Amino acid sequence: MNRGLNLFAIFVACATFFLIIAGALVTSNDAGLATPDWPLSNGQFFPEMVGNLFWEHGHRMVATTVGLLTIVLMIYILRKEKRGWVRKLGIFALLAVIAQGLLGGLTVKLMLPLAVSTAHATLAQLFFCTTVSLAVFTSRSWIEATPLPEEKGVLPLRYVCTAALVTIFLQLIIGATLRHSATWNQHLPAQLILAHIGGAVAVALALGSASLTVLRRHRDEKFLTRPALAALVLLVVQLSLGIAAYITRLASPNDPQPLNPMIAITVAHVAGGALVFVSTIVLTLRTYRVLPGSRSEVLQRSTMFIAPRI
Ligand code: HEM
Ligand code: HEM
Repeated sequence: MNRGLNLFAIFVACATFFLIIAGALVTSNDAGLATPDWPLSNGQFFPEMVGNLFWEHGHRMVATTVGLLTIVLMIYILRKEKRGWVRKLGIFALLAVIAQGLLGGLTVKLMLPLAVSTAHATLAQLFFCTTVSLAVFTSRSWIEATPLPEEKGVLPLRYVCTAALVTIFLQLIIGATLRHSATWNQHLPAQLILAHIGGAVAVALALGSASLTVLRRHRDEKFLTRPALAALVLLVVQLSLGIAAYITRLASPNDPQPLNPMIAITVAHVAGGALVFVSTIVLTLRTYRVLPGSRSEVLQRSTMFIAPRI
């Protein structure tokens, strides 16, 4: 285990979270077209950060910094990490951030088409998931984790958590489509709102049952209960922020420009979506690390764990 590499991976994951907030501020302030060109901003490398250029160009600067950090992270991984699949994930992270930067440029060049803006918002979440996964895989708790037994005849928890993860990812895509379908001065499309509310119910059921099952079956295993509890708390916060985002967006078309609390609440809801997603990723990855997958593996591990006591 390399402590320096793990700390650096955690730092890049935190920087990515900050970048997601910076990006969400561009959308909520309706600053996406503060400059119509890319890669330069209004023909300049560093324009004066006035008006909406503060949000748009600021987001580009934060994105450039995260891009550079991702290059350093990949080199660090290639130098220090022996596991081939972690090395590959480090290379994938760099490719993902490059694709994300290109999508960002494209959405400006094409004047924020729904498909490109939605893809940019979705890939941002996947890139965040990648940096968090790298932080998980390089951590001491991951490397030193030992297998746990699971009851016979129950649905393996890793599949319950994977189902929750896929549901959340679909909900993030619906959320991004909803958000980019109407600017602050337009009403959100009713059908997409209904789909997103349906998605919220599905996420609450899937993640709620995954987390509660982890807490019930493995209450003494902090390796699993910590991310389960975090996901559960974040889910409650996210549902409340969603309702608040809906109420403020209902009123925003009557405002003279994007105003608080709408900006703060919608940005918090995007950030909350990212946190619900990554806490569930940490939980799911950890179930794969320590819990058995197939029925035969369950039986094998249960005999393995019972044997020493006989
Ligand atoms: C490289 C890493 C990048 C990440 C992780 C990232 C992430 C994000 C996120 C999370 C949003 C908010 C989406 C939402 O609120 O729904 C966003 C918006 C935006 N980003 Fe990026 N971004 C990156 C790079 C770039 C670059 C290089 C540009 C270049 C112009 C760019 C331009 C934009 C624009 C214009 C928006 C607003 C889109 C809209 O309002 O429809 N991004 N970004
Ligand atoms: C756990 C459940 C939920 C998750 C994970 C979630 C996630 C998201 C995400 C990630 C976005 C923005 C996507 C992006 O642009 O990148 C979004 C948008 C939105 N969500 Fe949710 N959401 C949830 C529940 C809700 C609920 C219950 C409501 C209430 C009606 C809601 C209302 C909204 C609204 C109104 C927007 C658009 C905000 C805007 O126009 O700026 N969400 N959601």
